[in-house]
Amino acid sequence: MATVGKPITCKAAVTWEVGGGFKIETVEVAVPKKGEVRIRMTSTGVCHSDLHVMEGIDKDWPFPCVLGHEGAGIVESVGEGVTSVAPGDIVVPVFEGHCGECDFCKDPRTCMCQKQTRNHLQMDGTSRITCKGKPIAQMSTISTFSQYTVTNEINVAKVNPKANPNTLCLAGCCIPTGYGAVMNAGRVHPGATCAVWGLGGVGMCVLMGCRDAGASKIIGIDTNPNKFPLAKQFGATEFLNPKDVSSVPEKLAEMTNGGVDYCFVSVGITPVMEQAFMSSHPQWGKTVIIGLADIGETMKAGIWELIYGRQLVGTFYGSYKARLGIPDLVDKVVSGQIQLEKLISHRLPLDKIEEGFKMLTTGESLRAIIDYDL
Ligand SMILES: NC(=O)c1ccc[n+]([C@@H]2O[C@H](COP(=O)([O-])OP(=O)(O)OC[C@H]3O[C@@H](n4cnc5c(N)ncnc54)[C@H](O)[C@@H]3O)[C@@H](O)[C@H]2O)c1
Ligand SMILES: [Zn+2]
Ligand SMILES: [Zn+2]
Repeated sequence: MATVGKPITCKAAVTWEVGGGFKIETVEVAVPKKGEVRIRMTSTGVCHSDLHVMEGIDKDWPFPCVLGHEGAGIVESVGEGVTSVAPGDIVVPVFEGHCGECDFCKDPRTCMCQKQTRNHLQMDGTSRITCKGKPIAQMSTISTFSQYTVTNEINVAKVNPKANPNTLCLAGCCIPTGYGAVMNAGRVHPGATCAVWGLGGVGMCVLMGCRDAGASKIIGIDTNPNKFPLAKQFGATEFLNPKDVSSVPEKLAEMTNGGVDYCFVSVGITPVMEQAFMSSHPQWGKTVIIGLADIGETMKAGIWELIYGRQLVGTFYGSYKARLGIPDLVDKVVSGQIQLEKLISHRLPLDKIEEGFKMLTTGESLRAIIDYDL
C-alpha cells in the first residue's frame, strides 16, 4: 500500500479542552512503532462515555485529545513484531487491552490488563497523532474519532471477516458492555425478573442479554417513552416511565412480587443508581452499575440493605476480556443473533459528529454512528 511506512494526513475530531466539543481538524498519524498497529477506521459510535469525558468526568484527563472508543476498522500496516493481525484484517480496537501475560490477564476475576496505559498515550509515553505540530492524547490509546489511528497490538481484536466494517463499531463498546453486564456481571438465571434503567445503545444490549439469558420478565425503564417500541423488539416485556409513578421501587416491588432479581443501570445518574438498588429484591436482588459518574462520586447503599441480602456490583466493558470476548460477539452479529443494525438510528459522516452528540443529548437518536465512507 502506498501509505505503508509513511505518516498519514487525514481528518479527525479533536477535543481541545473540557467542554470544547468535537472539532474536525487535519491531523497527522505516525507510522506504527514496534508492537503497534495502524488502522483505517471504517465506523465509530457516538457513545455517552465520550460525552461524559468531553464534559469533564475526569479532571485529570489530558486535553487536547482525540476521543472515540467504540470503533471498527481495517488494518493498514503493522509495526515490527506484530503477529496477531495483518494488513487487510477487520478489527475492533478495544479500550482495555489484553496482553495475556500479566497477573490481571491471567486472572478470570478481572478484565483489566496491567500493560494498558492509563494516561491516554502509547506505551512509550507519546502519542501517534499530532495536529498543527502538537501531540494529541489518544483516548485509551485507540482514538476512534480519526480516519486513521495507531494503537498497540494488545488493544486490537481480530474479528470475523464476514462482518460489515461500516456498522461493526458497536461491537467495540455498547454490545460487550450491555450484553456482558448480564452474562458476566449479573449472571442472570433463566426465569429471573430483570429491570433496565436507561434504554440507550447500552441499555438495549442489556435487554438483549436478559432475553438470551432466559429472563421471564424484563422491565425497560426510561424517562423518554419514545425508546419503548424499540426496547420491545430487543426483549423488554414491560415498561415504566419513572415520571408516571410516585415511587419507582414501590411500583417495581408490585410488578415483581417483592423486588427485582436483577437491576441494571445504564444511565450515568447517581440517584437513579440508588433507586435501582432499592428496587432490587431485599433478600437476593443484585444491582449492576454500568453508567458512569464523575470520578470520586459516591452512591448511597444502606448497610442493613446489604446485610439482609442485596448485592451491588459494577461492570467495566461488560466484564469481558474484550480482545478475547468481542470476536465471539461479532460471530453472533454475523449469525443474526445480535441485531446490530437495529441499534443504529443515524449514520453520519465524520464532519457531522457534533450533530450526533446533540442527538444523543436530546434523546432523538438511539445510537448514531459515524460511517467513515460517507
Ligand atoms: N461501564 C462501562 O464500561 C460503560 C461502557 C459504555 C458506556 N457506559 C455508560 O453507560 C451509560 C449509557 O450509555 P449510552 O451510550 O447507552 O447512553 P444514552 O444517552 O444513549 O442512554 C441513556 C438513556 O437513559 C435515559 N435516562 C435519562 N434519565 C433517566 C432516568 N432518570 N431514568 C431512566 N432513564 C433515564 C435516557 O433517556 C437515555 O435513553 C453512560 O453513562 C455511559 O457512559 C459505561
Ligand atoms: Zn495484561
Ligand atoms: Zn462506550
